[in-house]
Amino acid sequence: MTQTLSLRRPDDMHLHLRDGAILQGILPETTRHFARAIIMPNLVPPVVTAAEATAYRDRILAALPEGAAFEPLMTLYLTEETDPDDVATAAASGLVKAVKLYPAGATTNSASGVRDFDKVRAVLDRMAEIGLPLCVHGEVTTASVDIFDREAVFIDTVLDPLRRRTPGLRVVMEHITTRDGVAYARAQGDDLAATITTHHLIINRNHILVGGIKPHYYCLPVAKREEHRLALRAAATSGEARFFLGTDSAPHVDALKEHACGCAGCFTATNTLPLLAHVFEEEGRLDRLEGFTSLHGAAFYRLPLTEARLTLEKRDAPFTPPAKIHTGAGPVTVFDPGFSVFWHVRD
Ligand code: NCD
Ligand code: ZN
Repeated sequence: MTQTLSLRRPDDMHLHLRDGAILQGILPETTRHFARAIIMPNLVPPVVTAAEATAYRDRILAALPEGAAFEPLMTLYLTEETDPDDVATAAASGLVKAVKLYPAGATTNSASGVRDFDKVRAVLDRMAEIGLPLCVHGEVTTASVDIFDREAVFIDTVLDPLRRRTPGLRVVMEHITTRDGVAYARAQGDDLAATITTHHLIINRNHILVGGIKPHYYCLPVAKREEHRLALRAAATSGEARFFLGTDSAPHVDALKEHACGCAGCFTATNTLPLLAHVFEEEGRLDRLEGFTSLHGAAFYRLPLTEARLTLEKRDAPFTPPAKIHTGAGPVTVFDPGFSVFWHVRD
């Protein structure tokens, strides 16, 4: 008998859709399976104001495949010049669901991010007042801090002081990659949540580096040691409402990944749900997959639960996604887990 699993249609609470030809090419990979997604604002130039978020949302809606029911949940990119009133208006109208904090220089297109946290205090105070979540890329950028330690150091030196300074601020620790991140999230109240990506449940740093450098496994925060991957798997499958899916699916064309200075980002939109079913089954927690993909994130973002459903099916034949998605800007390689996956999304 075929094993099936029915879920409320999932939400991706951290997604990069880009713009122009890449957006057009990769958007169907998300809308095929997901009801909604929190859309990252790190375009060039970034999406800073409500007017820019409106225009970007309209470009996403215009690129939707025929008949797709998909709601982009927009975010604003926090800069030292961000206007608290603009943020509050964008939140009140329902346009914007979160503000994104990138420490300047932390990752792809983060040059306009925050250097001096005192300069964003008024915005954070207003967000705490109105309950608008701050999504945080949790890595310090200090040159002397080892790249594998940047998340843990960020928690102690930036995140915790920032939360103490702005009590009541609702925070999402984005794409946590360490057991330190898991432990910190667990020790807080319900004003803090954490997203976990698909790829960090599957790869550790050896996958990037052993036997030759694998540019398509390079992302930020970079995958850590195996013990951290295991902590993330335990958290994702724990059933705890503070942990939910944010794929951080981050397309870059192959020419920029397979490069002397390759871009950070794993593209997982195409196969995330089969991969997650595989992981949750391995952990003996298929019953908790729906919480991770479709319930916990909606609850934190105070969104209604999705009504449409999606069925996963375990078949004898493996699910083999296309190796690449062809976009007008060039091919984008789909994340390869390195093992066979037998879960399929039923069409
Ligand atoms: C993201 C991107 O490419 O925009 N890259 C990544 O490795 N995750 C930026 C980010 O979320 O850090
Ligand atoms: Zn991201």
